[in-house]
Amino acid sequence: MTYEQIRKDPAIRVYISQADKTLDALGYTEHSFAHVTRVAEFAGEVLQELGYEARSVELAKIAGFMHDIGNVVNRSEHSQSGAVMAFRILDRMGFPPEEIAMIVSAIGNHDEGTGVPVDEVAAALILADKSDVRRSRVRVKDPKDFDIHDRVNYSVTHSDLEVDKAEKTVALRLSVDTQFSSVMDYFEIFMGRMLLCRRAAQRLGLQFRLYINEQQLV
Ligand SMILES: [Fe+2]
Ligand SMILES: [Fe+2]
Repeated sequence: MTYEQIRKDPAIRVYISQADKTLDALGYTEHSFAHVTRVAEFAGEVLQELGYEARSVELAKIAGFMHDIGNVVNRSEHSQSGAVMAFRILDRMGFPPEEIAMIVSAIGNHDEGTGVPVDEVAAALILADKSDVRRSRVRVKDPKDFDIHDRVNYSVTHSDLEVDKAEKTVALRLSVDTQFSSVMDYFEIFMGRMLLCRRAAQRLGLQFRLYINEQQLV
């Protein structure tokens, strides 16, 4: 079973769409195909660049694509409900238990608060998910109606996650337009996420770095 098969699976696509509808109704930023595809690809790239075997790269991509389906149940504890949903889906598709275990652990541990980067797949998923900050995730049209998440996402004109295998670092580089949000806004909502990123980087034997407008902050 491959990432491409998962990506095309009609049932999984329904759950992703419905999960995003839930978040739209709650006033959250975009969590649809753009988000999960980007997370899948970033998670896969992180492991590929570090030289992990091809199957680990594939599992990270699968976990990335499915990681937010639990929002279809409820935003609260969505990582755990998503993990249970993924268990049933992948079991029925005939995935081996060892692979299901890794994907379910990664999905169930992707959120700050309770998440722990249990292995390389979980760590890659955390780094990829927490680094998807970008203007196009904001759904609110009028800047007057922005909440802090909208302001921070809207202010990020470019974000990139770079692994440097030789330097043993993973760097999140953000270009922030401070007209819409201060760097303090960013820290207010992203502190928990950055701490989880640091633990995820450590799991991969890397130091986490954060750059905002070329300035190294972490
Ligand atoms: Fe999530
Ligand atoms: Fe996510």
